[in-house]
Amino acid sequence: MILDGKQVAAERREALKDEIRSSGLSPHLATVLVGDDPASRLYVRLKHEACGKVGIGSAGRILPADATTGDVVNVVRELNRDTEIDGILVQLPLPSQVETPRVLEAVDPGKDVDGFHPCNLGRLLTGSPVLVPATPLGIMTLLDHYRIPLAGRNAVVVGRSVDVGKPLAALLTAADATVTLCHSKTRDLASSTRGAEILVSATGRPRSITAPMVRKGAVVVDVGTGYLDGKLCGDVDFASVSAVASAVTPVPGGVGPMTIVSLLENTLRAARMRRCPPV
Ligand code: GUN
Repeated sequence: MILDGKQVAAERREALKDEIRSSGLSPHLATVLVGDDPASRLYVRLKHEACGKVGIGSAGRILPADATTGDVVNVVRELNRDTEIDGILVQLPLPSQVETPRVLEAVDPGKDVDGFHPCNLGRLLTGSPVLVPATPLGIMTLLDHYRIPLAGRNAVVVGRSVDVGKPLAALLTAADATVTLCHSKTRDLASSTRGAEILVSATGRPRSITAPMVRKGAVVVDVGTGYLDGKLCGDVDFASVSAVASAVTPVPGGVGPMTIVSLLENTLRAARMRRCPPV
């Protein structure tokens, strides 16, 4: 089975569009892009286009590649104060001279639609999530859509990033899976991945997950967005793995579209919270 993120995201976008229309709200997202990295520019453009499709207003702030931490923090603070803006997204990675944690901590947690502020990551760990990072949220939504059981099952996440691996491990744990978090220093990765009933790879190493690493009947989620010969390519060797797994996400058309729709859902959530904050 193909876990069709493109299709599920399209359905959720339609539902979100209706929800926004009937809410009477006019949510607004602000993006902050520093420098001119072509991939980051593309991702930001896709996010603005997606906003337009569901009735979310969006505006982009662009800073030069030599911007300082202070420059970026000042823009974030302006957006925090701007009563028209419900959600703020600082596109990562930031140039090396910018201290990313200081920037992410400057974002008002109530407008933090990426869910990267320590306050939102902490809420996730303590079991009262408010704004959850979009990629892990999109993966959970996709698994839920296809009714993939998680309780009591062995889930292996490869990659321990703050934006994907760590929050996803927390969400899978909250869903009662038994979670193993693997990373670049894991010894004998294949022996861990072979035990996975749910296997998620988020390393950015193209085609590094091959059939012998996958248990028969596993559900495999590919978060990779690497490039091979100039073509977008996931972490999973789709051709061989799809013969062993019971379900796989394709790249493109799997996790990527789910990430974007989750960001839009977070933006509506942030807009609602500004009118009626959670206690
Ligand atoms: N760069 C790669 N993934 C992400 C993401 O989910 N959010 C932001 N802000 N930047 C990213």
